[in-house]
Amino acid sequence: MGSLRSWWTLWAGAALLWGLTQEVTATPKNAGGMDFLATFLQNYQAGYSKASLQLFISSLSENIATVSIISHADKTSQTVKVKPGQTVTVNITAEAEMSGTNTFMGAVEVHSDQNISVQALNAKPSSADLTLLQPVSALGTEYFVVTPADISTRNVREFAVLAGSEGAEVSIHLKGAVTFKGKSYSAGSVLKVTLNSYESVQLQSKVDLSGSKVTANNPVAVFSGHSCAQKHTKCDFVMEQLLPISAWGKQYVVPPLAAQSNYDLVYIVASQTTNLTYNQGGTPGSRVLQMGDVFELQVKPKQPLTLSADVGIQVVLFGTGAERNDVTYDPYLILIPDVEAYCPSYVIRSIPDSEDVVILVVQTNDTSGLTMDGHKLGPTLTWVPVQGSQFSYAEVDLSTAEAIHKAEATTNFGMLIFGLAQAVGLGTTATCSE
Ligand SMILES: *[C@@H]1O[C@H](CO)[C@@H](O)[C@H](O)[C@H]1NC(C)=O
Ligand SMILES: *[C@@H]1O[C@H](CO)[C@@H](O)[C@H](O)[C@H]1NC(C)=O
Ligand SMILES: *[C@@H]1O[C@H](CO)[C@@H](O)[C@H](O)[C@H]1NC(C)=O
Ligand SMILES: *[C@@H]1O[C@H](CO)[C@@H](O)[C@H](O)[C@H]1NC(C)=O
Repeated sequence: MGSLRSWWTLWAGAALLWGLTQEVTATPKNAGGMDFLATFLQNYQAGYSKASLQLFISSLSENIATVSIISHADKTSQTVKVKPGQTVTVNITAEAEMSGTNTFMGAVEVHSDQNISVQALNAKPSSADLTLLQPVSALGTEYFVVTPADISTRNVREFAVLAGSEGAEVSIHLKGAVTFKGKSYSAGSVLKVTLNSYESVQLQSKVDLSGSKVTANNPVAVFSGHSCAQKHTKCDFVMEQLLPISAWGKQYVVPPLAAQSNYDLVYIVASQTTNLTYNQGGTPGSRVLQMGDVFELQVKPKQPLTLSADVGIQVVLFGTGAERNDVTYDPYLILIPDVEAYCPSYVIRSIPDSEDVVILVVQTNDTSGLTMDGHKLGPTLTWVPVQGSQFSYAEVDLSTAEAIHKAEATTNFGMLIFGLAQAVGLGTTATCSE
């Protein structure tokens, strides 16, 4: 009897675990949500032009969403209705942009009664970037910052930590020197700051801050970037919201953008001793990384990169700028989704005032099943196999008309969105739909 009961207990436990695992894997990472928090990093130099700060709120629901947006910078709130299949643009007053190294009350809260996806744009003339916002439920307490390289020293590398309703005690293990509230903190030192509810801290430096570790006692949002990063073109503001260590993945595919005739850069961050293996367009390599190491690899023309690690890694793409259709577009920053975060269906919204390109990463044996807005798209595209993986990638030009699209396949796939225009580059990952 005893042994039978324990067998049943084990079986029930296994069934419960299996159910839980199913539930966890069934909720994709870039799936949108109902509550979001944003803060806007400094775009180019303080005092240069007034920032156009916008949220693009897309419906992921069959019902009309009622969405309220609270901007703590000017203590205003607004409410919008977002119909199924629609995207609504919400303007945030320019006061929400942070300036210099300091603490700020510049948070923007977004609350919806239905699932939505939100992108945040920070644009000034010739200086703009876009990020997908992570829902509050995806925020965490441990992050590693990535700030891209720069060939000039006129502008600053920067990141921000934003507290939610409960505030946060934040510790930042700095990889580069920072001056905060009149005090100098050297590389290797720990900067501690107490944030009130919806308060943020922005730190800037002329030196690389990549690999700095942020820990907090409550979940926080972390945004990372550069006030104007320069590599192959003129400089451009770049930023992206990061994911906490707990959400990092082990397998990544980084496809090249056809327009890049030089190379883009990928930063791979380790939170612990990590055995990384990679395949750079057919050339394999490996590297053992330690906590806080940031390993840089080039993404060269026609050479997709695959990354595989024994523990979670963070992968950030720095688009270094290039020429496309006689337009010289400038840098952008994209947090690359891991293969486990791929989903079978995406909602994408075209980016205003730019040529929009998406890159799809689809299982090689499912490329023909890909549809866009219900039409078979897969067979019309030029698919390139990614060596060392079961994936192929293809690039699609979206029309420049403002529209919302739905892309679907029968297996999970990955999708990145780029907005390319003269002197501007925007990029982020797409949102999984339901
Ligand atoms: C929002 O901002 C954009 C650009 O800054 C402007 O063209 C548009 O009229 C604004 N919309 C509203 C509703 O204020
Ligand atoms: C939002 O999406 C999540 C995960 O996909 C789902 O569990 C939840 O029921 C959705 N919420 C609403 C209000 O539809
Ligand atoms: C790293 O992983 C590769 C592939 O699994 C393996 O061949 C190699 O021995 C590992 N290296 C270390 C230092 O663990
Ligand atoms: C496609 O490939 C994947 C993995 O390689 C496999 O699991 C799946 O069954 C294949 N699907 C078809 C339709 O062949």
